[in-house]
Amino acid sequence: MVDIAESNLLGSSPQFAHVIAQIRRIAKFDVTVLIGGETGTGKELGARAVHYLSARASRPFIAVNCGALADSLVESELFGHERGAFTDARQASPGLVSEAEGGTLFLDEIDTLSPKAQASLLRFLQDGTYRRVGGTQTRSTDVRLIAASNANLDELVKARQFRRDLLYRLKVMPLVMPPLRERGGDVVELAESFLTRLNRQYGAQTSSKRFDPSFLSALQRYSWPGNVRELEHFVQREYLMCEGALIQGGPPQDLAAPPVGAGDDAAFKQAKARAIADFERSYVASAMARARGNITQAARMAGQDRSAFSKLVSKYRLASVAGQEQDSGE
Ligand SMILES: Nc1ncnc2c1ncn2[C@@H]1O[C@H](COP(=O)(O)OP(=O)(O)OP(=O)(O)O)[C@@H](O)[C@H]1O
Ligand SMILES: [Mg+2]
Repeated sequence: MVDIAESNLLGSSPQFAHVIAQIRRIAKFDVTVLIGGETGTGKELGARAVHYLSARASRPFIAVNCGALADSLVESELFGHERGAFTDARQASPGLVSEAEGGTLFLDEIDTLSPKAQASLLRFLQDGTYRRVGGTQTRSTDVRLIAASNANLDELVKARQFRRDLLYRLKVMPLVMPPLRERGGDVVELAESFLTRLNRQYGAQTSSKRFDPSFLSALQRYSWPGNVRELEHFVQREYLMCEGALIQGGPPQDLAAPPVGAGDDAAFKQAKARAIADFERSYVASAMARARGNITQAARMAGQDRSAFSKLVSKYRLASVAGQEQDSGE
């Protein structure tokens, strides 16, 4: 278990340990960080960890979900506005960059920023200055920016939906949170820790519960598209629905493994194909993690031909935004 700072990032698989090591290192340097990874993989927790392990820990950590703000409001939320800047602006507001002074501003779902907001953010990243909406005074503030997105920003740049120059500014330190299905035994470790928390939380209303081994092995067979968040909710639901002390039985429907002992050839072939795919995926994922997302280097480490290896990377969708970029630069 790795419990860093106040963020409580759990997991000890090699893939996750690598990310934790990166977080510890990145935290020391006062640079912009871009966190990628699928939904529910812990991007926000990762951002908090970077902040609380940095010299800015005693200053504010301010999280903003860009996707939840109306287009017209993003700029005034971030950079503030003067009185009368727009109809509802009865009072001046300093904005979140000013509130985060000395600390860290976490911009989640950065891919949803409008072109105008992207331009203001770019300027802020270039020279640390900004203007309130409706204001003329140029202001500056000392804020570390951490951005996150589960979109492929390189693709968005190609589609001209995201500014290339902004992406380069954000990507000084890319960090990719691995999907849960590539984190091996972390599924069980996380499930156990959620169970401990639930036992503590509901201890007064119900007797303490534990997992049946079959439940744990079923957890490991599922691919968890919603990652840690999905696991957390699933464990909670099963906990609350379970009447006895032993949490058993069925994980979500698509968890079901091919019927064992059904005796037919198709089931055997399906199980074998799945075992091979599982092996390939974790082998490629671990090489990619060690090579920090650089395909050429990862292929070399795995003793594989680059093009064959690269096909596996695409097959299992293991290329990170950061990795592709680094790689094409070679
Ligand atoms: N390594 C971890 N250890 C413990 N809890 C975790 C871990 N990673 C994620 N979680 C939990 O999973 C949930 C989702 O995490 P978080 O909000 O950081 O994900 P996210 O990547 O920002 O997701 P989204 O892309 O949907 O915004 C949270 O409840 C968080 O506490
Ligand atoms: Mg998030």
